[in-house]
Amino acid sequence: MDNKLMLMIPGPTPVPESVLLAMAQHPIGHRSGDFGKIMAEVSEGLKWLHQTQNDVLILSASGTGAMEAGIINFLSPGDHVLVGCNGKFGDRWAALSQAYGLTVTKVSAEWGQPLNPDDFKAALEAEGQQPVKAVIVTHSETSTGVLNDVEAISHYLKAHPQVLTIVDAVTSLGAISVPVDEWGLDVVGSGSQKGYMMPPGLAFVAVSPKAWNAYKTATLPRFYFDLGKYRKDATKNSTPFTPPVNLFYALHRSLQLLKGEGLHSIFSRHQRLKTATRAAVQALGLPLFAPDDAASPAITAVAPHNVDAEQIRTVLKKRFDIAMAGGQDHLKGKIFRIGHLGFVSDRDILTAIAALEAALQELGYQGFSPGAGVAAAAGVISGSMKPGAN
Ligand SMILES: Cc1ncc(COP(=O)(O)O)c(C=O)c1O
Repeated sequence: MDNKLMLMIPGPTPVPESVLLAMAQHPIGHRSGDFGKIMAEVSEGLKWLHQTQNDVLILSASGTGAMEAGIINFLSPGDHVLVGCNGKFGDRWAALSQAYGLTVTKVSAEWGQPLNPDDFKAALEAEGQQPVKAVIVTHSETSTGVLNDVEAISHYLKAHPQVLTIVDAVTSLGAISVPVDEWGLDVVGSGSQKGYMMPPGLAFVAVSPKAWNAYKTATLPRFYFDLGKYRKDATKNSTPFTPPVNLFYALHRSLQLLKGEGLHSIFSRHQRLKTATRAAVQALGLPLFAPDDAASPAITAVAPHNVDAEQIRTVLKKRFDIAMAGGQDHLKGKIFRIGHLGFVSDRDILTAIAALEAALQELGYQGFSPGAGVAAAAGVISGSMKPGAN
């Protein structure tokens, strides 16, 4: 049967029909009053989603572009940065920083484990080193399903007001609270194909007044991603270069949907999806890759022992048209990842877990009683429907 694809990967994520339909219009001129109106409204909506008064700028790029812009606009060659590395994306920001000639100190943890906030404190306070200019950290490490404690790390950074906090919120924004102002985050990058419930193509960078101050003296080369240009044009509700206008229609609609749901409901839905998924996976006797106290609400990584992760994914895709993600780099074949980010509902989790059970049975995996996973997920979901529960 065609057109029954169910996306359970951590991006691109499913897109609501009204967002898809919003894009099905003629593009309009990006210097027109009509575009300006959309730009004004989405800029307000982005501040709401980021819980900030800071600028939130919109780029034609993916999440990596947001992070590249968020790094190169505020630093100079040779500047010392601490980069949290406990997965593919942390490693990417270390490599990106090195590519631009920054001096990188990695603050590392094993893949599958969270970064230790105390390690940042120690690295910030290490004696006799070149002063640290920025800390770069990935909030939800999508490659492993680990949620890093950005709140605790940012807490330590308050004692170092000269240091910029640059956060990859690509799979946390729109899934878990990222209170940019409360935590004092200077630069926050994200991408449209995740919690925004939109197709890929737009990237977002929130920039604090402190970061704008650093921008004035930063000398790394920048042109297309010169955020000063975006800020200047945003004051006129415009963009410096031709934007993907139809994606702005989508953003406009998706922000309306997100506002309609409300921040509290969005975050508790993701929390519930995570808890239901993890309960189901455990009930199936499959080991979870990330610990309970550092599990991302956007994605659950599973490390099966007696059954092949890639075979599970193949059967899910072939028999049920459900896409789950595989492991990346050295985790390829060792884990599979269930995305529950963005436009994902309780029903999607129940369906995906039922299909996972069927796939496991087809592969001859014996470590569970049929129905156990669905029962565990349903238990979490129905528990949350009781009066007084979230
Ligand atoms: C945590 C995280 N950071 C960065 C990225 C990179 O985003 P993109 O592929 O949109 O460039 C991703 C993509 O999955 C991600 O999950």
